[in-house]
Amino acid sequence: MIVLGVETSCDETSVALVGPKGPILEKTALQEDVHSLFGGVVPELASREHQRLLGPLCRALLSQSGVSPKDLGAVAVARGPGLLGSLLVGMGLAKGLCLSTGAPLVGVNHLHAHLLAAGIDRDIAYPALGLLVSGGHTQIWRMESDLEFTLLGRTLDDAAGEAFDKTAKTLNLPYPGGRYIDLLGQGVAPDHALYPRPHLDDPGLDFSFSGLKTAVAEHVRKNPGLRAANIPTPGEPFDPGLAGTETRVACASLNWAVADTLRIKLTRAARLHGPFISLVVAGGVAANSRVRDMAAELADRLRLDLRLPPLVLCSDNGTMIAHMGRKLALAGFFHGLSVDAIPRGKKIPWDYIALA
Ligand code: KG4
Ligand code: ZN
Repeated sequence: MIVLGVETSCDETSVALVGPKGPILEKTALQEDVHSLFGGVVPELASREHQRLLGPLCRALLSQSGVSPKDLGAVAVARGPGLLGSLLVGMGLAKGLCLSTGAPLVGVNHLHAHLLAAGIDRDIAYPALGLLVSGGHTQIWRMESDLEFTLLGRTLDDAAGEAFDKTAKTLNLPYPGGRYIDLLGQGVAPDHALYPRPHLDDPGLDFSFSGLKTAVAEHVRKNPGLRAANIPTPGEPFDPGLAGTETRVACASLNWAVADTLRIKLTRAARLHGPFISLVVAGGVAANSRVRDMAAELADRLRLDLRLPPLVLCSDNGTMIAHMGRKLALAGFFHGLSVDAIPRGKKIPWDYIALA
C-alpha cells in the first residue's frame, strides 16, 4: 500500500509518499525566512504560507515520484496537536485528495508520528521507552506497539525546544535557534555549574524548562558580550568558530543542562515503568548532538536498543505522517471526511472507524 502523508502542523509544509519498501519521496518547504524576523512562528503567516505552498508541493511529489493518484491506498494527514489554522490547510488538501481519488483518509497524531519516525529504517522492538523533544513538546512515553502509547511525563511549561529557541533569540541568533546553539556548543567543554538542571527535585517524570530559559536569559543580560554581533542569515552556512569562547561555553552548557535533565528523567522512567527493550528519542531536539550522545550512552548503560530517527526525520516532515498513516491503514484504522483538526493543548481522541 502506498500512502501520501501531509504535514502542516506548524511551520514546515511537507508532503511525502511511503510504500511497502519505505519512504518513496518527500517534498518539504521551510518557512524560516518568513518567521525568523519575528523570532518565532506567527500562526497567521504560517497558515497563509501552507496555503501558498501545499498545492504545488503535492503536484511535484506526484509527478516526480511517478506515483499516480489512483495508486494511493490512503491519504494520511497530521490531525494535531498544532496551530489550528495551519492544520486546517493540510486537512483541506487531504480531504480534497480523498474526494478526487476515492482513497480513504487517516488522521495521524503528530506526536506519535514523531516517535514512530525512529522505526522507519528498522522496526522498533517493543516495549519501548520514548522521549519526544520538540519545539512544542517534551514528553516521555511507554510505547507498547506501533499504535499503543501511554504518556508517562510531560513538560509543565516550556518545551526543551523553546529553551533553545528563546536562548538563541537572546544571543541574536535566528529562529529556530536550536541548530545554532548545538553547533556553537560542539567541541567545547560545558560549565556544569553555569545553569540549573530544572525540576529534578520533583520525584516524578514531568519537566519544567522555563526556569532554565530564564537562567540563560539572565546570564546573557549580565554578559551582553555573549550576543552575536551580526545575526546569521537563516539557511546560509554558519561558522561557529567566529563566535567567542564564552558564547560557545554558554551554548555547550545549555546543551549539557538539557541533555542531562532528559537523561535523569529517562533513567527514572526506565526504573519505574520498565522493563523496556528499546529507547526511542525523537522530535526536532533529537537532532541535537549532545542529546544524541546522551541517548547513546544511556541506551548502552541500560542495555536498550537505541532508535533515533535519521536527522532529516527529526524535525516536522510528511514522511513520518505517511509512515504512521500507513501503519494505521494496514491495521484497518481510518477516518471519515468530517474528522476535525485538534489544536495544541487538546487531547487527540482515538476515534478511528473501520472502512465500510
Ligand atoms: O519537531 P520540530 O520540528 O517541531 C515541533 O513539532 O515543535 O522541533 C522544532 C524544534 C525547535 O525548537 C528547534 O530549535 C529544535 O527543534 N531543534 C534543535 C536542533 N534542531 C532543531 N534543538 C537543539 N539542537 C538541534 N540540533
Ligand atoms: Zn513536531
